[in-house]
Amino acid sequence: MSSHENEFVVRPIGVIHTPFEGAEGTPIQGAFSGDAEGTVEVAAEYADGLSDLEGFSHVILLFAFHRSRGYALRVTPYLDDVLRGVFATRAPRRPNPIGLTVVKLVAVEGHTLRVAGVDMLDGTPLLDIKPYVPALDPRGEVTCGWLETRLEAARRGAPLRTVADERFHLDAEETPEDT
Ligand SMILES: C[S@@+](CC[C@H](N)C(=O)[O-])C[C@H]1O[C@@H](n2cnc3c(N)ncnc32)[C@H](O)[C@@H]1O
Repeated sequence: MSSHENEFVVRPIGVIHTPFEGAEGTPIQGAFSGDAEGTVEVAAEYADGLSDLEGFSHVILLFAFHRSRGYALRVTPYLDDVLRGVFATRAPRRPNPIGLTVVKLVAVEGHTLRVAGVDMLDGTPLLDIKPYVPALDPRGEVTCGWLETRLEAARRGAPLRTVADERFHLDAEETPEDT
């Protein structure tokens, strides 16, 4: 199958607002955000789809890394200092620049969601919302590949990066692994 078969168009259904304008201070994952708050503005035409979301404490946000450019098949992720296959990372610069974050659902106010635990830049296009359901999402025996070593080191007190730098942003320098 050619990689261009079955192309499809994804239209944002809204926009995510966060306190983060650029890399500085932006958490690399929602889990490191200290419950930073944001708002998810769903376009009015999709508002009816938010019915019944109240009662879910967490939702999964799918979004576009719209301020990342191009992609690389090997990237140096925020949590490492060597190149890793992009699909073994959560880095923004990927063939389909789609991000996924589980956030706390603080309130549903009309077609706006107030959420906590954000790691996306202000103005990020929202692609989809799904309820986070522990009974469906957890897996029993989990291993975490190259990340295992980093997380174990952090458990023993080694510093762990928790905020971004410019490496995947529009304003970043070209890197040799760019395609
Ligand atoms: C490592 S990604 C993880 C995002 C998501 N939790 C995931 O795993 O797919 C988070 C970083 O992506 C970058 N980022 C967030 N929103 C972005 C956007 N709209 N365009 C480009 N980069 C973005 C920020 O530097 C942020 O620290």
